[in-house]
Amino acid sequence: MPTTTGRLGVGIYGIGWCASQHIVAFQKNPQAEVTWLCGRDEARVRASLTKYELHLPDARTTTRFEDLLAAPDVDIVVITTPNHLHAAEAIAAAGAGKHIVLEKPTGLDEHELVGIRDAVRRAGVRTIVSFELRYNPLLRFARWMRASGHLGNIRFARAQYLSRVTDWYAGWDWVRTRESGRSHLLAAGCHAVDALRWCAGREATEVSAFHTHFTEGYEWPTSIVVNMMLEGGALGHVTSSTDFMMPYTFQIELMGDRATLRQDLLQWQDTPLDVGELSAANPFADVKLEASTDPGGRPAIRIRCAMPDSADVSHHPFQAEIDELVTCVLDGRETSISVFDAQKTMEICLAADRSAELGGRPVALPLIAD
Ligand SMILES: NC(=O)c1ccc[n+]([C@@H]2O[C@H](COP(=O)([O-])OP(=O)(O)OC[C@H]3O[C@@H](n4cnc5c(N)ncnc54)[C@H](OP(=O)(O)O)[C@@H]3O)[C@@H](O)[C@H]2O)c1
Repeated sequence: MPTTTGRLGVGIYGIGWCASQHIVAFQKNPQAEVTWLCGRDEARVRASLTKYELHLPDARTTTRFEDLLAAPDVDIVVITTPNHLHAAEAIAAAGAGKHIVLEKPTGLDEHELVGIRDAVRRAGVRTIVSFELRYNPLLRFARWMRASGHLGNIRFARAQYLSRVTDWYAGWDWVRTRESGRSHLLAAGCHAVDALRWCAGREATEVSAFHTHFTEGYEWPTSIVVNMMLEGGALGHVTSSTDFMMPYTFQIELMGDRATLRQDLLQWQDTPLDVGELSAANPFADVKLEASTDPGGRPAIRIRCAMPDSADVSHHPFQAEIDELVTCVLDGRETSISVFDAQKTMEICLAADRSAELGGRPVALPLIAD
């Protein structure tokens, strides 16, 4: 039911670092309005609003999640609590008939994933999962290069998520635990797995992984490398780590039988890509292409756009995610990152963690029958 202002009402649970950016995005959407905030302690909720410089004089505050679920002026529930709480909260929100913004990871095991899937199916509500890097221009362009055939048939895809997360992080107390953070892929690297799936356009049929532990304070391994067999005989690789002494790095590479995209560089072997033709076909106004050379002086094309190069949530493209959900709720249609689609990303993460626990033994996908 829309609020008295005619806008969709939004209730947010877990008022921390990530929620701050969901709030900013909803405040900028003219068809939505944040009506409720929920945290375990009202004073902490207020302190969080001050910390993130948010002004929400009209939103009500509660310590009871049930209040969000019962409120007639909440159409959309945003779940930005620690990871181990997501599944039960999403299932409850769907049961109450609320549309959902669900932070990654959606579920921490198959049981949780199935529970979310079934609850959302039963309720018929709209969901969007925060794999918001799909709205980053580099990833959109990479996907388009593949889908439009400019790279040819994909033979290899690689994604890397290297982010040095220690006690500077607001969620350090819970993320480092096995109960809540659970694994590097589930807590963080799922973004890279999702980017690989989405950009390469091929599902994984089998994975094999190794993990190791360097960074102190974590209850789980802090680096994992994942090899993937992808549909059509292609190979995939994901590196997910918090151990490396370097700035935040998110990298995507797609190698087809015609050309290759390596982050911001397009390269080829036999048939050059034409920068003029490609620029004319490029559908993204925020992506520019220029003739360039690689570090070896060989001709290449440089991609100029906002890069996925910051761990700071204020740089993440949450606005496009929130705008898509609001539009889909109003139009009564599915989003592009529903819990059903995100489940496939989560299954790869679970399979890779299982393989690493088994010393690299391959694990077949999917884990969950439809
Ligand atoms: N998509 C992305 O790019 C992205 C980026 C960052 C984080 N995230 C995700 O967003 C979620 C929240 O992360 P965050 O960085 O915002 O963490 P955070 O700053 O710690 O915020 C989480 C909030 O949840 C509340 N909470 C409720 N139950 C809790 C419990 N049992 N233990 C601890 N806190 C509890 C806390 O508020 P009260 O103490 O007031 O209850 C806390 O402020 C995580 O699932 C994370 O994976 C996603």
